[in-house]
Amino acid sequence: MADFKDGKAILAGLIVCGAVLGVVAGKMNHKGAETAAPVVSSEAAPEDNGQTAESQTTALVSERGTGITVTKSSDWAEQFPNQYETYMMNSENDEIVDYIEQNPYIKTLYNGYGFAIEYGSARGHTYVVDDVTSTGRPHKLANCFTCKTSDMTALALNEGDAAYAMNFEDVETMITDPFGCFHCHQNEPGVLYVTHTYLADALGEDINKVDPANLSCGQCHSEYYFKTDETHATTFAYNGLDTMNPDDILAYYNNMKDEDGNAYADWVQEDTGIRMLKVQHPEFETFLGAGSPHASNMTCADCHMGTVTAEDGTTFTNHNWISPLDSQEMLDNTCSKCHGDLAAEVAAIQKETTDRENEIGYALEEMNHNLAAAVAEGTRSEEDLNAVREAARTAQFYWDFVYVENSEGVHNPTLTKECLDKAQQYLDEANSLLAK
Ligand code: HEC
Ligand code: HEC
Ligand code: HEC
Ligand code: HEC
Repeated sequence: MADFKDGKAILAGLIVCGAVLGVVAGKMNHKGAETAAPVVSSEAAPEDNGQTAESQTTALVSERGTGITVTKSSDWAEQFPNQYETYMMNSENDEIVDYIEQNPYIKTLYNGYGFAIEYGSARGHTYVVDDVTSTGRPHKLANCFTCKTSDMTALALNEGDAAYAMNFEDVETMITDPFGCFHCHQNEPGVLYVTHTYLADALGEDINKVDPANLSCGQCHSEYYFKTDETHATTFAYNGLDTMNPDDILAYYNNMKDEDGNAYADWVQEDTGIRMLKVQHPEFETFLGAGSPHASNMTCADCHMGTVTAEDGTTFTNHNWISPLDSQEMLDNTCSKCHGDLAAEVAAIQKETTDRENEIGYALEEMNHNLAAAVAEGTRSEEDLNAVREAARTAQFYWDFVYVENSEGVHNPTLTKECLDKAQQYLDEANSLLAK
């Protein structure tokens, strides 16, 4: 595994903000593993001891405009010591991997965008606010805090979309609780709430078809953009589960035209003129996408949290979010019921995925250089160039959908392969148009 643990990918943060800040998370280092356990054992399914939220089949969606306040995570420490103690263990993973050093071609692919300047891996949930504020450029908006602090979540509930366009520094001074219980439980630990209501807006009635333990992660581990109107509100590019897939997400962006008739772009590459899309950590969309081996029988929490037994015999849900491979209990008691050597299986999928990502990544870089040269030469018609740009945008979108997904193919090997195949297909198209 070691090779892949420091692999790339990019989770995190916030597209624009994360980019600029370099907070972006990604493939992590799993350092917390050895130390992660006040725990004696973990089991396949939580036992009903009246304390788990196991019986909850649909999530509650937070009400807007009620003037809700945040109960801080530390205020729950006494009442829920096990959950709180494991939650605090997230701080043990404090390393950041530099993806630009690791995959230098992304400097070209993300040229003109923050991720080309700084792009670090993810680390523990408890670092999110430090990571978003420590580096960065001025004039960020409050929308950068969307997935970082309970206080921003409460602000968006109370003020609506207007909260996202507030001044970054103003909101920073209001922060009392980085990554808190509030995100997933509102102020009722144990009950699962969707407090990030843009997820509820994107899923509509389909929200009842998704397990609340997937929704709680999908609030942040998902593909999003900031609205182009004055609210700059965090928004998802789909309406319902049927359109929650890479093809329809791309179509959504392509159909979103500005007043000049141009399709939505996160940024325009200066030397090629490609109207680029930047995908963000689509774990939720990938895991729940067609072909996923475990979407119907497991949730994010089953593999990344798990049930553990404290020394006094109490069972509870582990709140240290780690790789299942870093929990020997999880592997022994749950996964090994069906899997032989899961670590080897995962390593094989990740190797295949990262090898193809790199191969296509370098080929995209070369195509970019050739397109930039053609633009600089000035001999081709805009129409010709635009055809290449369109194929290049599409190729990079499908490549990025895999590159920034933090499991490196593991959550859904089928969908991963399909995306990389499409990336290759559009790359070939761009190259053959260029060669004409
Ligand atoms: C409020 C937003 C938010 C929610 C909700 C959330 N995450 Fe995260 N998660 C993040 C961010 C942001 C990072 C990257 C942190 C950093 O590097 O600063 C992250 C990092 C991680 C990591 C890497 C941790 C490490 O130590 O390297 C894992 C694993 C993870 N999340 C799993 C989950 C799971 C499973 C859920 C649902 C039970 C979940 N997350 C819910 C925002 C969130
Ligand atoms: C990223 C989402 C997330 C955050 C943040 C979070 N929890 Fe949980 N919590 C869960 C999930 C998922 C479950 C399991 C529910 C299930 O199995 O259906 C859970 C279960 C619980 C339970 C029920 C008992 C148990 O252990 O299963 C309690 C109590 C609880 N959490 C307390 C807390 C406290 C206190 C905090 C903050 C220190 C917190 N949670 C932060 C997602 C979260
Ligand atoms: C069937 C088990 C399983 C389920 C369900 C699952 N994951 Fe994972 N996830 C994994 C494995 C295995 C890895 C790769 C871990 C590694 O490289 O060590 C991974 C990697 C990750 C990572 C990268 C962090 C890391 O520790 O490497 C994040 C973030 C993540 N998953 C979030 C999620 C979210 C969010 C969901 C639900 C939408 C989810 N996972 C569902 C098994 C699962
Ligand atoms: C009830 C049996 C069962 C259990 C328990 C189980 N799995 Fe699986 N898992 C499967 C099956 C079946 C597949 C699909 C295998 C295939 O497509 O070749 C699969 C596929 C996977 C994959 C995708 C890679 C692949 O081989 O396709 C990952 C990753 C994975 N499981 C992780 C886990 C983790 C982590 C656990 C423990 C938390 C776990 N599984 C528990 C049956 C199980």
